[in-house]
Amino acid sequence: GAPVEVDISKLQPGQMMTVEWRGKPVWIINRTKEMLDSLKKTDSEVSDPKSEKPMQPAYAQNETRSIKPEILVAVGICTHLGCSPSDKFKTGAESGVAADWPGGFLCPCHGSTFDMAGRVYKSKPAPDNLEIPPHKYLSDAKIIIG
Ligand code: FES
Repeated sequence: GAPVEVDISKLQPGQMMTVEWRGKPVWIINRTKEMLDSLKKTDSEVSDPKSEKPMQPAYAQNETRSIKPEILVAVGICTHLGCSPSDKFKTGAESGVAADWPGGFLCPCHGSTFDMAGRVYKSKPAPDNLEIPPHKYLSDAKIIIG
């Protein structure tokens, strides 16, 4: 598959866009400060907080799992059996997940939950964090995936 070039100049804080790369949905999320702050809280609740498993690119082996702290680029496919998690940016009881849910992604198939960095919560069926695809910045506004 050819690399995909994405213009993120219009992606406002708190917004998410989806592009297709090699037939997979890739999510690009411009995280707000609140969303980034929530990662401190979820650090202790996820199974691989720094993405140290070897299949993660080096630039995803950190708390935000990203090159730039605010911009998350992740494959929107559950690492359990490949369902599509839905985004659950709503927090707390409104999300339908839990009263103290700080936002993230819920897989409808078997209930895996992922935080705002795509890190899987402990004791969930999905074994791994969401995949971070190979990507780099061509400029502040342009990412190339693949
Ligand atoms: Fe997502 Fe099973 S496919 S939890």
